[in-house]
Amino acid sequence: MTDKQEKTILSTRDVRLWYGQKEALHGIDLDFPNKGITALIGPSGSGKTTYLRALNRMHDLEDGVTVTGSFNFNGTDIYAPTTDTVDLRKQIGMVFQQPNPFPFSIYENVIFGLRLDGVKDKAILDEAVERSLKQASVWDEVKDDLHKSALGLSGGQQQRVSIARVLAMSPDLLLLDEPTSALDPISSRNIEETLLKLREDYAMIIVTHSMSQASRISDRTAFFLSGDLIEVDQTKHIFLNPQKQETQDYVSGRFG
Ligand SMILES: Nc1ncnc2c1ncn2[C@@H]1O[C@H](COP(=O)(O)OP(=O)(O)O)[C@@H](O)[C@H]1O
Ligand SMILES: [Mg+2]
Repeated sequence: MTDKQEKTILSTRDVRLWYGQKEALHGIDLDFPNKGITALIGPSGSGKTTYLRALNRMHDLEDGVTVTGSFNFNGTDIYAPTTDTVDLRKQIGMVFQQPNPFPFSIYENVIFGLRLDGVKDKAILDEAVERSLKQASVWDEVKDDLHKSALGLSGGQQQRVSIARVLAMSPDLLLLDEPTSALDPISSRNIEETLLKLREDYAMIIVTHSMSQASRISDRTAFFLSGDLIEVDQTKHIFLNPQKQETQDYVSGRFG
């Protein structure tokens, strides 16, 4: 292990979540290093999205959801009553399945959060736009059209602009829920290459239903089944030498 992998950015213990009376997560213990990509895999309905959304308190916005367990993020408790969820979601940014550009210019999309924070200095905003779009590997494609609508971009470009919008807030952790599943194969590869570059500098957790994607881009893989974490390990171990029969059955395509 290299030095940079030794620090844990996020640690969850005994995470349980109920939709009404129905328990959807049955006690998830997971640790995430401060760099690199962890993939969450498992069949549809296994709780991957539910767990991911719990990490930046997205369920706060829904009625009837109960979350218990401990969530230690950089030494702070994500669910402490004093935690400001707006600040939390800057530190733990989320990228969704569908690219979700706002009906504004590319430039305004990227600095949306900075504007909400009251940043007005044009030099700072310009710098954030260029830095974030470069990090999201879409700068070269859009640099001459920054003031055109983001809605005119292709789906893959929109998704990279969505990633840039999250990066503009300088997050510590990126959550991505099937970020390529709405995209064509070439756009998906572009996103994968973007994530592979970002993994040098960011901690990322990606939900994917594609085992080949998990094996291409992730350092570690966690296998979910029916609301339980079955196994987590280095990705190559999960795919080549899993310890649990359920994992073996899933990665060899016997179900899911
Ligand atoms: N808003 C919701 N209300 C009730 N049940 C839900 C809701 N969202 C997800 N579920 C249920 O929780 C379980 C886990 O779903 P989900 O986290 O979306 O799985 P995955 O992302 O692995 O496909 C499933 O049984 C699903 O039907
Ligand atoms: Mg899901």
